[in-house]
Amino acid sequence: MADSKLLFHLSDIHFGLVDERAIAWVEREIRERRPDMVAITGDLTMRARQREFDAATEWITRLEAPVTVDVGNHDLPYFNLIERFFDPYRRFHGMKDLVEREIVLPGLALVPLNTTARAQPRFNWSKGWVSKGALHRCLAAIDALPTGTRALVTVHHPLREVGTKGTALTHGGGHALDELAKRGALAVLSGHVHDAFDIMEQTPHGPVRMIGAGTLSQRIRSTPPSFNELHWDGEQLDVRVRNLEHVDTRAMQIDDVPEDALPPREPGEPVAPVGRVPPSDPPVY
Ligand SMILES: [Fe+2]
Repeated sequence: MADSKLLFHLSDIHFGLVDERAIAWVEREIRERRPDMVAITGDLTMRARQREFDAATEWITRLEAPVTVDVGNHDLPYFNLIERFFDPYRRFHGMKDLVEREIVLPGLALVPLNTTARAQPRFNWSKGWVSKGALHRCLAAIDALPTGTRALVTVHHPLREVGTKGTALTHGGGHALDELAKRGALAVLSGHVHDAFDIMEQTPHGPVRMIGAGTLSQRIRSTPPSFNELHWDGEQLDVRVRNLEHVDTRAMQIDDVPEDALPPREPGEPVAPVGRVPPSDPPVY
């Protein structure tokens, strides 16, 4: 079918603590399968160090496909607050044309929505924040798409407003979802959680599909490293979770969005059926 498209959705590669086997495999898959687009939904690095960005840039520029990259909370300068405030994307210089890049193909487009703030009026800056300006830019881009072109919106943080413990995972996420529902967005592609999911979120303006990709790093939550393969046939969007261990898609997906990206440590937090919860996180430094 003329409209059919193949998209790879990668996330949370975390150069600095990457799973080398996993990224070598993904690179090979991209070379062989030639996806029409590759979306990387943030957290390219572990601590936004220059050497981590250099490794990310080298890997991404080798990929033989159009790529767009969202900024994750791990990608803003962590130790250098002056740079964080005044030039937060400086370390992306080797791939700056790919950052928050809109990709429009006949019938299907990737439209970025930034959820990573330099600072927030709350203690935890790792959570998401949809600013008025970022939402406005995203909605204007959707409104400007050629008639009949469906939008996949790329974000780092899932647009989930209220966590189980009462704090917003993504401030402004609920309002953003409402606006995307009004425009009939095909889905919102996110990262941050390190487990895959594919759920419908209800809004007063109708449902919005939320699709999360897992991680390609050693920081696993409850599933092996993975990425999502999306097939669009012009009517249906099909999601397959790919991993090196050939675990099937259902077993790789969690059935709800947890409050944060940390591995499940408390009973009741969403865990995928594969249930690979590491006893402790790998060292970051
Ligand atoms: Fe991450």
